[in-house]
Amino acid sequence: MTTRKHALIIGASRGLGLGLVQRLREDGWNVVATVRDARTPGALAEVEGVRVESLDMNDTALLDALKQRLQGETFDLVFINAGVMGPLPQDLEAVRNDDIGALFMTNAVAPIRVASRLLGQLRQGSGVLAFMSSGLGSVTSPDGNEICLYKASKAALNSMINTFVVQVQRPDLSVIAMHPGWVKTDMGGENAEIDVFTSTRGMLDQIVQQSGRGGLHFINYKGDTLSW
Ligand SMILES: NC(=O)c1ccc[n+]([C@@H]2O[C@H](COP(=O)([O-])OP(=O)(O)OC[C@H]3O[C@@H](n4cnc5c(N)ncnc54)[C@H](OP(=O)(O)O)[C@@H]3O)[C@@H](O)[C@H]2O)c1
Repeated sequence: MTTRKHALIIGASRGLGLGLVQRLREDGWNVVATVRDARTPGALAEVEGVRVESLDMNDTALLDALKQRLQGETFDLVFINAGVMGPLPQDLEAVRNDDIGALFMTNAVAPIRVASRLLGQLRQGSGVLAFMSSGLGSVTSPDGNEICLYKASKAALNSMINTFVVQVQRPDLSVIAMHPGWVKTDMGGENAEIDVFTSTRGMLDQIVQQSGRGGLHFINYKGDTLSW
């Protein structure tokens, strides 16, 4: 008898997080997924067999409470997907300081706070910890300059992931900074290049391949290595 694999997806109310949950369930995984308020899970309620938990990533008390509720569970995959675009337009002279702070908090700091609480629950030897980064987080990317703050927040996330990996000393763990492609979601918009199915199918194929390899990898949904 094979044991079902167990995944935790952070930020699954819509878009890529919801798609990841759908693909994992299609592949027979056990899934715990978070939305900001589990009483209103939105489209996630239509995916059968998912345990829905509440989490606003920016609230450390809620993070601690989630950790308590997940105590004793071992995950093959923790995928920290949630993120925001931040204020628009990203005109440095017009944008409010508080909005810049909230963007960097959500995209660069909160994901590491989630990861540090759940690190001990990732399966020894084969666990995968994935963060939703972006190709725009590559510091030499010439693209997306109209969303320069968002770009910088993903570059900051990549830096924070690197620090985290150096600090935690878990060489058995595969840690992925993932670029999902430019995807048709609320954030990606309707002119994006690929749909949620293509992106999420690709990302999960890469996760299965990375399991057991260990180390830190900045890759896209097709498995191409990206430059930091
Ligand atoms: N779409 C693209 O082309 C693209 C490209 C590169 C990277 N990404 C990244 O991929 C991830 C998902 O993007 P998406 O396109 O699916 O965007 P989306 O449709 O806007 O979904 C964003 C998700 O993040 C959740 N979220 C935001 N802030 C949160 C917080 N503080 N606590 C908990 N959940 C929070 C949202 O929850 P609510 O529904 O409650 O707001 C929603 O589930 C993001 O990290 C994004 O930066 C996307």
